[in-house]
Amino acid sequence: MPDPTTTTPRPTEPVAFPQDRTCPYHPPTGYDPLRTDRPLSRVTLYDGRPVWLVTGHALARDLLADPRLSSDRTRDGFPATTPRFAAVRNRRTALLGVDDPEHRTQRRMMVPSFTLKRAAALRPRIQGIVDELLDAMIAQGPPAELVGAFALPVPSMVICELLGVPYADHEFFEEQSRRLLRGPDVADTLDARERLEGYLGDLIDRKQKEPGEGVLDDLVRQRMAEGEVDRAEAVALAIILLVAGHETTANMISLGTYTLLQHPERLAELRADPALLPAAVEELMRLLSIADGLLRMATEDIEAAGTTIRAGDGVIFSTSVINRDQDVYAEPDALDFHRPARHHVSFGFGIHQCLGQNLARAELEIALGALLRRLPGLALAAPPQEIPFKPGDTIQGMLELPVTW
Ligand code: HEM
Repeated sequence: MPDPTTTTPRPTEPVAFPQDRTCPYHPPTGYDPLRTDRPLSRVTLYDGRPVWLVTGHALARDLLADPRLSSDRTRDGFPATTPRFAAVRNRRTALLGVDDPEHRTQRRMMVPSFTLKRAAALRPRIQGIVDELLDAMIAQGPPAELVGAFALPVPSMVICELLGVPYADHEFFEEQSRRLLRGPDVADTLDARERLEGYLGDLIDRKQKEPGEGVLDDLVRQRMAEGEVDRAEAVALAIILLVAGHETTANMISLGTYTLLQHPERLAELRADPALLPAAVEELMRLLSIADGLLRMATEDIEAAGTTIRAGDGVIFSTSVINRDQDVYAEPDALDFHRPARHHVSFGFGIHQCLGQNLARAELEIALGALLRRLPGLALAAPPQEIPFKPGDTIQGMLELPVTW
């Protein structure tokens, strides 16, 4: 295959981005024209705007590490993949939506709470939550709707405990996250964002009077008290941690379970050898690529793949296509627990690489491991093609997952 860094993109009909998946764990068939040896293509967004779509693995890692690509959503001309996203673009964001040096400062503040060691220390508590939820599900008897009974409450409870957010409010913040990420219209998204800001602002005010245990309490005690972080920044941090902390992992649990049930041989292999779990989680992360479409804008001209990305151009990374680059992964559409899957970009790459990845891996290993161990007869309770999954313009996952055992 030609060297991706010297291949000139050939003119093609621009493909629309994003598109709905046809199968919940494969890239949309509409992206097939992008699955070539060209690492960079032009695609068209919902508003007709042409942007670059990165699809090659080597180029993706180069560009995700390139400081000339900005994540600052408030820049004029920052690309939006949905009207919803365009509507909240100018709201105060933290981490994901800011560039260095502001990003570096925020990241340094947060990293100690999300290390591998911290995630390892949380494992017994995650196991406790998983066991309690499975006990309740088993006591109720089959069938069950796995998203509501298990996939969503596991990460939601874990992130609540970690941050110091009362789980009693979960219906409220889960609903606002849902509206933020895939509400019916712009007004709905804006309203959800305001409600989340209001809720987390009130929570931070309460913590200032009476700090408890949690990452947000530490933020109030250590950073706000010193004047290092103001209220608006604390709220922006709380929003990304709470939303990214439960929606993403919930989708991986539901879609991961569906995918395993659609691959009975792999499922049997995993049941026979639970030591494969970490590799299975990594391979599912690669194959499912649930956050498909990382957004950037060029701040300077960049020479890439034999062409020039101009300052002001939008650059989007299709993780689902990048993670199936044939130069890196043999038989990329197959689920294979024995391949080295670790270099996938499902957690991103570069300075914005997922802050919660150690936690997410721990949650996925524990949740999927316990589900398979405790429910040996686990099966879909509806024909697979009838089970609804999420549209292409949001984080991918199952809308519902009826199961029996
Ligand atoms: C399997 C579940 C998860 C997936 C697939 C995922 C995916 C991602 C991706 C792709 C990025 C980079 C986005 C970009 O570069 O544009 C990211 C960043 C981030 N994720 Fe995750 N994530 C997951 C779980 C979590 C969890 C549990 C948390 C907990 C708080 C979290 C918090 C964050 C934060 C704060 C960032 C921004 C980091 C920064 O900008 O420095 N994520 N995640």
